[in-house]
Formats: sequence, structure tokens, C-alpha cells
Amino acid sequence: MIDRPSQSVENAAAVLLAQLTLPEKAGLLAGDGFWKTRAVERLGIRSLGMTDGPLGVAFHSSWRRATRYPAPVALAATFDETLAEAFGASLGQDTADAGKRMILAPGVNIVRSPLGGRNFEYFGEDPWLASRMAVAVIRGIQSRGVAACVKHFIANNQETRRRSVSVEVDERTLHEIYLPAFSAAIAEADVWAVMACYNRINGRYGCEHRQLLTDVLRGELGFRNLVVSDWFAARPTSGTGACIRAGLSLEMPGPGRWLRRRRVLRAIERGELTEADVDRVLVGLLRTLVLTGCVEGRPPARRERPRSDPAAMARQVAREAIVLLSNRDGLLPLDINRAGRVAVVGPNADHRFGFPLAGGSSAVWPRREITPLVALRRRLGARRIVKDPASADVALVFAGLRHRPGGDCEGFDRKQLSLPASQEALIRQTARANPRTVVILLCGSPVAMPWLDEVAAVVLAWYPGMYGGDAIVDVLTGAFNPSGRLPMTFPARLEDSPAHRDERSWPGSDSVEYTEGLMVGYRHFDAKEIEPLFPFGFGLSYTQFDYCDLEVAITDESVVVAFTLRNCGTRTGAEVVQLYIAAPGVAVLRPRRELKRFARIGVQASESTRVELEIPLATLRYFDDERLEWLLEAGEYRLAVGASSRDLRLHGTFSLQAHK
Ligand code: BGC
Repeated sequence: MIDRPSQSVENAAAVLLAQLTLPEKAGLLAGDGFWKTRAVERLGIRSLGMTDGPLGVAFHSSWRRATRYPAPVALAATFDETLAEAFGASLGQDTADAGKRMILAPGVNIVRSPLGGRNFEYFGEDPWLASRMAVAVIRGIQSRGVAACVKHFIANNQETRRRSVSVEVDERTLHEIYLPAFSAAIAEADVWAVMACYNRINGRYGCEHRQLLTDVLRGELGFRNLVVSDWFAARPTSGTGACIRAGLSLEMPGPGRWLRRRRVLRAIERGELTEADVDRVLVGLLRTLVLTGCVEGRPPARRERPRSDPAAMARQVAREAIVLLSNRDGLLPLDINRAGRVAVVGPNADHRFGFPLAGGSSAVWPRREITPLVALRRRLGARRIVKDPASADVALVFAGLRHRPGGDCEGFDRKQLSLPASQEALIRQTARANPRTVVILLCGSPVAMPWLDEVAAVVLAWYPGMYGGDAIVDVLTGAFNPSGRLPMTFPARLEDSPAHRDERSWPGSDSVEYTEGLMVGYRHFDAKEIEPLFPFGFGLSYTQFDYCDLEVAITDESVVVAFTLRNCGTRTGAEVVQLYIAAPGVAVLRPRRELKRFARIGVQASESTRVELEIPLATLRYFDDERLEWLLEAGEYRLAVGASSRDLRLHGTFSLQAHK
């Protein structure tokens, strides 16, 4: 047994590097089959086993049925960082239990269009929200000694031609919208792996983009660990030298094409590549092997945490994620004892979402899945559940999308914002038959709701995971007071969305132009004063909250905003308080408002609490794309605190001096 307990990660990686022969080094740069790295037994280097995420341990990469958690978009809707970290720990634990040392999660690409096929796998449209969720989930996963692999670096915001499209995006937009979640993952969670994307960025493939993989990722963001290609993403690049010199450490799956041992050695012989080039990328992989305990004599780096109960976690995330979108005349919550007969209709009432590869690489196949119908039968008794809305006291329509092309599915973007015509017809027909109709949507991205005014209530449950049915019934019956908020704008019409200006901006052809620049999501709706169907940050509760007594204090380092939050209703509930800032926008154009802090605060009925939010001044900077640095504008800043990006209750200002 090789004893190396006292070495730092840095030293351990350097020592291994010095001991490896050139052929061994070359051999480590491509995987061993689909889901692991190569081992070097002579040096006690074991292979690093990996599995897909981010909804749980995926079946196709583990051959196990596992806990299916709610989709990441649902986690983002909780706006709950503490829960996100606990969820991450649960995911890390499941990964370790499956005998794997890396999970290919979280996905932090920004939702640029409501039609993005993988929107359900990401954390919404706002870089601050995505950053907070990424940091929390990664900290949780890695607390178990398991590597998180943050993906897909970068600007992989559509599925259409994802393997070839060139995203034309400017430096400032890249820095202010698309990079922050990666940057936070590195700076605040020290993520152990980054996955390079399929697409091109300004003409160059992600896996051979030296400026992005080396200058930005390793230089500017300070990343030191493993850079792995997306699966087969290294294929279309211009060669071995290009990928390695750009900063790619590992080609997956094995045996690889460009980073295959033979090719690497040949490239070195021909002088296209040096051993030093190989060492530069390999040290990142070695660090990750050390951190995950894949090197004999080195236990994985982990923090002690009690084991969590995955089932309880899945249900908790599902409940907190549910967004109450409308509730006419307070129809919800339903009084379970007086609800009488309940009509249950719609294609998602008894649909199970978790099957191998359903929706793509994130598919998790659980042992059981509690559908809404199963949960309702249990809670109400089968006899109270009927099919005919006209003969029921309440009608529940379970509508939404599926994990297949046309719905929320890797490899395919949606073609339209609306639900299938048959579902719209069913909703309208049910509402005509029963005025007490509630629509429950199971989906991972925005849908149009031309029928909104015809129904009494709408509940958005996302893809709620294997205990989703229980969570939905908890909310419908008031056992849980809804507190989820939209992590993305729901537009009234597709053409209102910033990416849907024309064919060049979505989905493009050889290239796609990010002509909206910084104006992604609510930034665009605010700039153009377009009324969305539901704004970013929106969500109702069974109680009401009141905001008052704003105080703003400024120090050399930060702005501190305090206010009183009162639950003025009769039920205990949680509010997601949101703080938006408008910079002076004199030096450069700035969005009208940007989310800079949020907190999920629970308050008992009729009680108040004082909330304090601190914003480091550094987070107010913009990226100057001529000087290529972050600058803080002097002048007057406006701030607003409220319950959504369009429900701002308190307003204040503060000024920053030029020298800051
Ligand atoms: C996806 C990744 C995934 C990988 C491995 C790719 O197609 O883009 O998100 O982790 O496959 O399954």
C-alpha cells in the first residue's frame, strides 16, 4: 500500500505526474469505456467511475434504479440554498452508494429560450439564481467526497444543431450572463470538474477553445481541476494538439479519438505537441483523482455530514418547488374532508416520467413513482375519485409536457410554446363542465396558457420526481403552503421572448446570434416593457406578506438592506424575498433591474420578522469588454425589494463614489 497521507492535493498531483511515464500520461487522457477513466496500477491510480445526473444517479451509467429527484428547474424554483445544499449531499451520497466517484451534474446553462429542450436540467434564466444553486449543489455533492462536474461549458443553450452550431456572443454578455454560474462554482465551491460543450463559441469548438478553456477558465476563473469533454464532443475538433493545447484534460468516452494514447504519442513525436503541454492538462485530472480518493493511500476529501434520507429529500424539494400560479376566489387549498368527489383527468395524472434514457442523459429510473393519481387515491380514497368533471365537486386536470421530442428532451428543442392542442381542448372542456377546475402542470419549461382565465386555479409542479404525487397533494390540500417561485419568465407569446427575434437569433443555422446580448429573460421584458404571462420570481401563497420599514446602509465593502416582512394572513408560510438593483447605467447600458440577493423566509401567521440582505459591492460591477475587466460604476443606484421581478414593494437608493 502506498502511504501518502500528508501530501497536499497540489503535491500529490505533482508527485504522481513526476512518476508517470510518457505513455502512461498519454493513456490517461481518454476514458476507459463510457463511464470511467483509466487506471495506472503501478502507481496506485484507480479509475474514476462516473455517472450521469443531475436528477439522480442515471440508469444507463450505473445499471441501477435510483432515487429520482425533482428536476433542477424545480430545485431552482425553491430559491432555497440550504435545501439545495442538502439535496446535493443526498445526490453525492447516492453517487457514492452506486460505487461512482463523479456525477455529471449540475447543469448550469442559462435558459435563453422557453423552447430549450434541456431547460428542465438547468437553473433558470438568471445568472445570480443559477450561481447560488450551483454553489449549493456542488458543495453538497462534494461534501461526500464525490466530484461534481459542472456542465456544459459554455453557451450550450439550445439543442438544435448542438454539435455544430457556432454561438455568436460578445464578451460582456458571456461574462455577465453565461459565465457567472461557472465562475461561482469555481470560486465558492471549488468544483472538481468542468465539462466542455459540444457547440462552437464564436467559431471554435468548446473542446478546443484555448481562450475559453485556458485564458478564461484556468486563468481568469482560477480553475485547477479536470476539464472533461462532453461525450464525443472532442470528435469534430481540429485535432489532438488543438484540444490539449486548449486545455482539455480528458476525452470521453474512451478509447477516444483525438486524445487516444497512440495519437498523443504520435503528435509528440511529430513535434505538434510537447510533454509539457500534456502535463499542463493532466495535472487537472490528477488533482481530481486525488480529491475523489482514486489514488491509493489518499481518502476522498469530504466533510462529515449525517446520512440523509433520499426519499424525504425528494419529497421536500418537490413540495417547496411547486408554484401556485393562479387561485381564483381562493379555491385552493381544498378542504380534504369536504372536497366530495374529485374528477381527475389529463395525460399526466398517472404518467410515470422515470425510465431509462427518457428525455436523454439525465433519465433516472426509480423503483417506484408516486403519480398524482396514486397519491390522490391514497389520500382521498379511491371511491371519491371520478372521471366525469360534471359530476364532481372539483376537477383536477393534469396537463403539461413529457420527456420526449416536442417536450422537455435532450437533443431536441420544442417547436411551440403551447401545450398539445388535445390538452388545451381538454382543459377548456373540463372548465366548461366544472367551474371549480384546477390545472396542474407537469413540465420543465414555460407553456402558453390561453385558457388561463377559464380555470379557477393553476399549479405548476415541474417534474417533481418519484414522490411528486404526494407533494402535489400536500399543496392542493394545504398540508403544505406553496412557496415556489418562477426561475424563468413565462411569456404570453413566443415572439415576446428575447431570443425569438428572427431565425438568426433562434435557432440559427451554421451559427446562432445572441443579438439580445444581456437582455435575457426578465431583463428583456423589463427593457421593452412587455407584460409577461407570469414574471420571473412570481408565485402565490395561501397567505399574504407585507413588506415595510426599509433601511439601507452602505459600508466600504457592501450595501446592507433591511426590512420587515409580515405574514398578514392566517396560515404559516414562506416568502421568497427578492432584491433587485438598477445600476446608474451612465457609463454603459445596464439592465433595468437585476436580481442580486434573495432569501426564502418562513413566517408564522400574523408574525413579522426583520430581514437583512447584504450585497458585496463587487457583485454590482459590469464587465468592460474593451478593458476586459470588471468595473464598478459610480453614481446613484436604485434598489427594490419585493415578491417578484414585477411585484416590487419597497424602493430605495444609494450612491457609490468614483474611487470604489
Ligand atoms: C450530454 C451530457 C451527458 C453526457 C454523458 C451528453 O450527451 O450532453 O450532459 O453528461 O452525454 O451521458
